[in-house]
Amino acid sequence: MHYPWWYVPQLTAPMLIAMVSVVHVLVSHYAVGGGLFFAVETGFAYRTQNGDYLNYLRRHAPFFILLTVVFGAISGVGIWWTIGLASPLATEVLIRSFVFGWATEWVFFVIELTAAFIFYYAWGKLSPKQHVTIAWIYAGAAWISLVLITGITAFMLNPGVWIEHRTFWTGFFNPQFIPQTISRTGGAILLTSLYVYVHASWTLQTSPLRELIVRRSTRPALVGAVMITVGGIGWFAMLPPSARLALEAAAVLTVLTVLIFALTAAVFLLLYLGPYRHPEWMSPGFALALFFFGLAAFSTGEFIREAVRKPYVVYNVVLGNQILEEEVPSVRATGFLQSGRWTREHVKERFPEAIRDGKVDSQRLLTSSLENRILAGRVIFMHHCNNCHAEEQGYSAVGPVLFSRSREVLVEMISHLHETHYFMPPWSGTPEEAELVTDYLWTLRPERPKGIYPNLERLEAKR
Ligand code: HEC
Repeated sequence: MHYPWWYVPQLTAPMLIAMVSVVHVLVSHYAVGGGLFFAVETGFAYRTQNGDYLNYLRRHAPFFILLTVVFGAISGVGIWWTIGLASPLATEVLIRSFVFGWATEWVFFVIELTAAFIFYYAWGKLSPKQHVTIAWIYAGAAWISLVLITGITAFMLNPGVWIEHRTFWTGFFNPQFIPQTISRTGGAILLTSLYVYVHASWTLQTSPLRELIVRRSTRPALVGAVMITVGGIGWFAMLPPSARLALEAAAVLTVLTVLIFALTAAVFLLLYLGPYRHPEWMSPGFALALFFFGLAAFSTGEFIREAVRKPYVVYNVVLGNQILEEEVPSVRATGFLQSGRWTREHVKERFPEAIRDGKVDSQRLLTSSLENRILAGRVIFMHHCNNCHAEEQGYSAVGPVLFSRSREVLVEMISHLHETHYFMPPWSGTPEEAELVTDYLWTLRPERPKGIYPNLERLEAKR
């Protein structure tokens, strides 16, 4: 409870993380799978002395490097930027728990970059053996950085026994680590084939070379799809109970889960019927269609992965509203506004009359004017609820779900937030603060829609 709030209208700040990460993930998986692609395929082209294929690979390399190194690095920094602002406490926990993991990851990143530049700029100057070795060094370093980052991001969904031991390795080898490493590796391989199809079908005329490239990329793609499925099953098996319940209970998530299975099946079928059986079908249009199916499946997967973590950002550690789970009882006792460094200062400045013995007294706020109560309630809402709810409109806006409740029911619900809905964090304020936030919520209620039951209304009017 000691970070300021970043207000993002309509969208809510965490949704920015989702947007930046989806874009980044689509490129970073290509960075990993592309390493394997270049290592295996330059080796193959040298072995079979296929000059045309080597030339093609040499043309694909700058496309790959520009996209993964330049765009990948920028969007990767974009993630750090957004998580630092939108989710500061969770970022702090991840940095503190895994500082050597991050450091190691950056070392491998430097190896990756160096190998990529040598691979491209020393093309033709190295012996085939040296050239292929450099490609394998790139591939190895890129895959290890995937493994390192997966360990840390998987930790957020299920820290497992780390909760008791709090050591680097118990956190890193969490229950989600192996499933997610398998599915992310499979994802990297599959996605790379989709990029190769697009690039090859775009830059090469129909030719035996194009068919060769397409055919050679299809088997890894099918293997990748199987790995995603196997990893996905493991991911489901290793979900914390509430995350599994969220997946089954929330209508949106059920729809998305069905969607991701349908998309994966569609990609698998298209791969089999298209490039596997009929590589000559691979027109730019077909390649793009496959690519967009893949893109949709990936984005859906990332969205579900993020959504099931509620009410936590780091499961069992950091709650969605940037409070540590272990802090809740003391925040409740002290009061939400008094517990936060920024909320406390804000109240002192804005409502000096609510301060008693240097502390925020929520009782005094409650006896203040309605306008003040609403303003104080808004501060609580922003810090306690806005991470998951926009106001009147926007992402999971709270206004539209309010109109069917009485004020008493609302106060009661807020005071027992996690008991009414387990995917919300526990209420972390005083009873008076629950009243204050209700005062603010009351101003967000839309008009009840009229004319939904015209027949009933007419009949009732007659009586
Ligand atoms: C960790 C995320 C999270 C936080 C923080 C959070 N909520 Fe929610 N809340 C949800 C989710 C998810 C739903 C279900 C939304 C849906 O079904 O679309 C929900 C539903 C609601 C509903 C509708 C409940 C119903 O029965 O229809 C209300 C009202 C609500 N939240 C109020 C609040 C208030 C007030 C706060 C702050 C004190 C808050 N929430 C904090 C995630 C959160």
